[in-house]
Amino acid sequence: MPDPGFKAGLEDVVAGLSDICFIDGKEGRLVYRGYNAVELAEKASFEEVVYLLWNGKLPTRAELAELDRELKANRTLAEPVQSALNSLPPSTLPMDALRTAVSVAGIYDPDAHANDMEANRRKAVRLVAQIPTMVTHFERVRQGKAPVAPDPNLSLAENFLYMLHGERPRPSHASVFNTALILHADHELNASTFSARVTAATLSDMYSAITSAVGTLKGPLHGGANEQVMYMLQEIGSKENVKPWLERAFAEKRKIMGFGHRVYKTEDPRATVLRRLSRQLGEEANDLRYWEMLREIETTITASKKLYPNVDFYSGSAYVLMGIPIEIFTPVFAVSRISGWTAHVLEQYAHNRLIRPRAEYTGPTHLDFVPLDQR
Ligand code: ACO
Repeated sequence: MPDPGFKAGLEDVVAGLSDICFIDGKEGRLVYRGYNAVELAEKASFEEVVYLLWNGKLPTRAELAELDRELKANRTLAEPVQSALNSLPPSTLPMDALRTAVSVAGIYDPDAHANDMEANRRKAVRLVAQIPTMVTHFERVRQGKAPVAPDPNLSLAENFLYMLHGERPRPSHASVFNTALILHADHELNASTFSARVTAATLSDMYSAITSAVGTLKGPLHGGANEQVMYMLQEIGSKENVKPWLERAFAEKRKIMGFGHRVYKTEDPRATVLRRLSRQLGEEANDLRYWEMLREIETTITASKKLYPNVDFYSGSAYVLMGIPIEIFTPVFAVSRISGWTAHVLEQYAHNRLIRPRAEYTGPTHLDFVPLDQR
């Protein structure tokens, strides 16, 4: 019999104290440092939210200008990071390329051998500034195109779309992307943030912690779900096919990507905003095909199962309409979540204790050793 306190997957286990992010799973409310994330997504810039997550307060105009200056000054990748990305085979998965680039960047970081708070703040700035460049650099190389240098006149959201496409984004795309970045910025002890904190808690360096986080985000049960939603839509093909497709999927006990959540027992508030934005971009492009299929899936599932859409359900359809390739949806998640990961790593260093849980052993304990020639 397992220990009565055992929870598979650490469900509902409180594994640390944090004042960065609060999720009210019953009410469907997400809070960053005391502020409603949905309100921040509607009113703030991603840079303001980065400042908020790191510092626990909204920046003044001067503080924001200083962070913005630092971020813009640090967007260019060190030459060895560019070479590493250029040398990867085109078949490399973009998340694997990102994980590799973060690891290489750690070697060439000017503070590589320092682990004090100030050095770690500088590393956090470089990571937030450079992950967008890593993602877009590799994507363009993968497509056989020359990478586009960052433009210091553009915000982080605008510059990402600019480096991806080689042209300045429309204001509506930049605005929706800024909102999406804010909505994905942090989410308490989600799997990737937890793995970053476990690594940091050994007093390993920030780049190692973020490399762990990128590897964890990649999985289809976590950040990889947004890509899977789009592949599901492609497989379903049309609104009319939704119901028979879902019936088959349920009969086969398949999981529907973009549905369900460990913490939310109601609708994920991020999905509420992204549903609206996905529709807005669809109307703008006169292409509501994906949006209508998503709505049909959602109404069918919520009517028959107690499952609600999560952040990944509507985000992909908005990204596609902004011209973001499906293969980089999960790296795009990292472009945002790096803000939360670094905030958590800084918090972990500030109040550190090694994270080392126990396992309940379920195997035999007193076997007699049998010599090799007698087995
Ligand atoms: N489709 C169908 N059934 C589901 C789904 C789903 N998406 N999610 C949960 N369920 C069902 C399970 O089959 C299970 O039913 P059962 O008790 O009859 O066996 C029950 O709901 C509980 O599901 P678990 O998988 O045990 O819940 P858990 O908390 O471990 O997992 C998770 C949460 C991983 C998000 C799960 O809902 C899932 O796999 N969803 C699809 C993947 C996805 O969208 N991931 C993105 C999450 S958000 C993020 O990481 C950014």
